[in-house]
Amino acid sequence: MTAEVRFRFDGKVAIVTGAARGVGREIVRGFADAGARVVATDRDGDGLAETCAPHGDGVSAIVADVSTADGAVAIVERARATFGRLDICVNNAAVAPHAGLLEERADVWDRVYAVNCRGTFLMTQAAARAMIAGGRGGRIINFSSGAAQRGAAGGAAYASSRAATETFSRVAAVELAPHDILVNTISPGLIDTQPKPLPADMAKRLAARIPNLPLARPGRPDEVAQLVLFLASDASSYISGAVISIDGASSAGSRFGGVVVDDDTRYDWVTGRTRA
Ligand SMILES: NC(=O)c1ccc[n+]([C@@H]2O[C@H](COP(=O)([O-])OP(=O)(O)OC[C@H]3O[C@@H](n4cnc5c(N)ncnc54)[C@H](O)[C@@H]3O)[C@@H](O)[C@H]2O)c1
Repeated sequence: MTAEVRFRFDGKVAIVTGAARGVGREIVRGFADAGARVVATDRDGDGLAETCAPHGDGVSAIVADVSTADGAVAIVERARATFGRLDICVNNAAVAPHAGLLEERADVWDRVYAVNCRGTFLMTQAAARAMIAGGRGGRIINFSSGAAQRGAAGGAAYASSRAATETFSRVAAVELAPHDILVNTISPGLIDTQPKPLPADMAKRLAARIPNLPLARPGRPDEVAQLVLFLASDASSYISGAVISIDGASSAGSRFGGVVVDDDTRYDWVTGRTRA
């Protein structure tokens, strides 16, 4: 199912990082279908080519690493050189390797932070500089995860890096507000982007987890893309510094255990319950 387009971005230019697959691919599709010109970027050239193939000249692909300053500057420069402006930057690229705290390797930790935190910072900085130079304001949309709010076992590096992204985005929202640049963070729950077929362990874990999600299903990438389009649109002109969950209520609770209907005798006087 493709994203249903509810917003128009004719004349606007958007950058989408992490565009080679998953959520990023659907964001590119959503913007392109809604009339935006898009710079789609990823470190995976093959996946990126697949994302861009249906879209023609309105989508420009650039292979780059967002965790390097050179990469971030090249991506933003591509928007200026190819389309002459920059209005929206979606920092969706991330890595999420999981490991137990006792086994976590420092080099993997550093890599996770380099992509998820330094990459988000470098892209935000480069995009904001271009938006300020353009004098038309802009939108920056960063990504977190529901894991940032929990002690998600195995997520020492990933979950904490996403929490850092949230705080960074609040700072950016405040500092960039005088330039009419709105900065928000999307915090997804489980989204169905895992490459199929699933490895056996992951399949087992998801089979146990999904029935306990309040909606008993993962989200779809196009559902996340719709939220991105909303946050990039005129409809969200007073939203900045927000962290917006898109998780089918999974941060609110779980189906596990069902509805609590207790018969605690202490509250008989409240419920009017009488006992035989
Ligand atoms: N899928 C989920 O269940 C889920 C849950 C919570 C949050 N999120 C967040 O949503 C976003 C999208 O998730 P997804 O599942 O589509 O991710 P994904 O892993 O499927 O895709 C991420 C993309 O980012 C690219 N990338 C990684 N490092 C890069 C780098 N240094 N430079 C350029 N590109 C790089 C990868 O090549 C890949 O194409 C991420 O920010 C993620 O943290 C996803």
